[in-house]
Amino acid sequence: STDKPWGGRFTEPTDTFVEGFTASVDFDKRLYFHDIQGSLAHARMLTQVEVLTEDEYQAIEQGLTEIRSRIEAGNFPWSVKLEDVHMNIEAQLTQAIGITGKKLHTGRSRNDQVATDIRLYLRDEIDVISAELVRLQTGLIEQALTYADTIMPGFTHLQTAQPVTLGHHLLAWNEMLQRDYERLQDCRKRVNVCPLGAAALAGTTYPIDRHLSAQLLGFERPTENSLDSVSDRDFAIEFSSVASLMMIHLSRMSEELILWTSAQFNFIDLPDRFCTGSSIMPQKKNPDVPELVRGKSGRVVGHLISLLMLMKSQPLAYNKDNQEDKEPLFDVIDTAKGCLKAFADMIPAIQAKPEVMREAARRGFSTATDLADYLVRQGLPFRDAHEVVGKAVAHGVATQKDLAEMSLQELQGFCASIEADVFDVLTLEGSVQARDHIGGTAPSQVRAAAHRARARLGA
Ligand code: ARG
Repeated sequence: STDKPWGGRFTEPTDTFVEGFTASVDFDKRLYFHDIQGSLAHARMLTQVEVLTEDEYQAIEQGLTEIRSRIEAGNFPWSVKLEDVHMNIEAQLTQAIGITGKKLHTGRSRNDQVATDIRLYLRDEIDVISAELVRLQTGLIEQALTYADTIMPGFTHLQTAQPVTLGHHLLAWNEMLQRDYERLQDCRKRVNVCPLGAAALAGTTYPIDRHLSAQLLGFERPTENSLDSVSDRDFAIEFSSVASLMMIHLSRMSEELILWTSAQFNFIDLPDRFCTGSSIMPQKKNPDVPELVRGKSGRVVGHLISLLMLMKSQPLAYNKDNQEDKEPLFDVIDTAKGCLKAFADMIPAIQAKPEVMREAARRGFSTATDLADYLVRQGLPFRDAHEVVGKAVAHGVATQKDLAEMSLQELQGFCASIEADVFDVLTLEGSVQARDHIGGTAPSQVRAAAHRARARLGA
C-alpha cells in the first residue's frame, strides 16, 4: 500500500514524473468552490437517507466551510501528490475532522464529482457571461438610438452599396449578439442537470436520493443514465461552440471598428483609453482592443476543436482523457468574459463622425438603386432602369460628379421621363427614409427596432 487515497492495491510509489504528469490540481483547483458546494449537498443527502448521522454532517459542514475560507485566504497546502482538487480537499478535511472526513466519499466517485463540479462552475459562469452580454447589447442599443439618423455608406463586397444609418448597422450587431444570448440560455438548460449519484459509472448500492441532491444544488433534475453522466462533456463542447460563434461575431465587429478608425475611413473615434501607441512611430494610435478581440476569437475556436477531438473515440464510461477538458474550457470562459467586458466598456464610448460618414456615402453613387427604382415607378422595366442608371454612373465617374450633382437636363439625356422630383430620391435622406418597413434602415424604423431590442433584452 502507498500513501495515496487509492493506494491499497499498489506495491510501489508512483513514479515522480508520472505524479506530476497525471495531476490536475494546478488548474482544477479553481473548481474548489463548486467542489465544496457539491460535497455539502452530497453529505446533506447522505444524512437525509441516514447513511451519515446529523453529527457527522455537522462536522463535515464545519470542516468544508473552514477549508473554503483557508483556500480563499491563500492558506491551503495544495499538493500535487494528491493529484486533483477533489483529493486535496478530502485529505485536508480528514486531517481536520478525523475519520468522519473519510465518510464523505460514500456512494460517490470522483467521476460523478468532477462532472458535477464542472456543471456547477459552468452554470455560474454562463450567468456572468450572459449579464456581460446584456451590458454590451445595452450599449449598442443606446448608441443605435443616438445615431438613428446618422447616414453612412452601407457596403457589400466592402464597396459602397446603398446608404444606411449607423443606428441600423449597430442594431445588426445587436441581432447577432441576441442570438448568441439565446443560444447561451438554451445551452444552460443542458448544463443544468445533476450527475451526482452516477458514482464511478454504474450508480451506487446506497439508498441515495438523487432528486434531493439535484434539488439542493439548484439543478433542474438528475441525469438519466449513470454511464453517460460521468463520461460525456458535450455540455462543455456546446458551450464552447456557443462562445465560438459569439467570438466570431465580436471578431467581425472588431474588424469593422479597426477599419473605421483608420485614417482612410475615419468614421469613428475610439477614445485613447482603448488604444495604445507605438514605441517607434510617435503619431500612432492603434486600436489594440478590437485587434486583440479579433485575435482571441481564433483561440476560442481552437479550444472548441480541442474539446471535440478530446471526446472523439472515447468509449464509455469515464476515461482520464476527460481531465483534459478543463484547460480549454476555462480558457474559453476567461477569454469570452474578457472580450465581452472590453467591448461592453468600449462601445458606449465610441464617437461617430457623421460628416465623414455622410461624405463617404455621397461619394459612392450609393443612391443609384434609388434612381433605378424611380424609373421603374415611371414605367420602365427594372432591367432597363438598371442599364440607364449604369450609364449615368459611368458618366458620373468620367466627370467626377455624383448623381445628385448632375443637372436635370444631364439626367434626362439618359432617360427622357426623368423629372425634377428625381432629386427627392437622389438625396441620402430620401434614400434611407424610403426603406420604411420592419427591418429597414429608415430612421423611424431604426428607432422602433431599438425599442423592441431593448424590451427583449435579457429574455
Ligand atoms: N481529475 C479528474 C478529472 O478531471 C477527476 C476524475 C478522476 N477520476 C479517476 N477515476 N481518475 O477528470
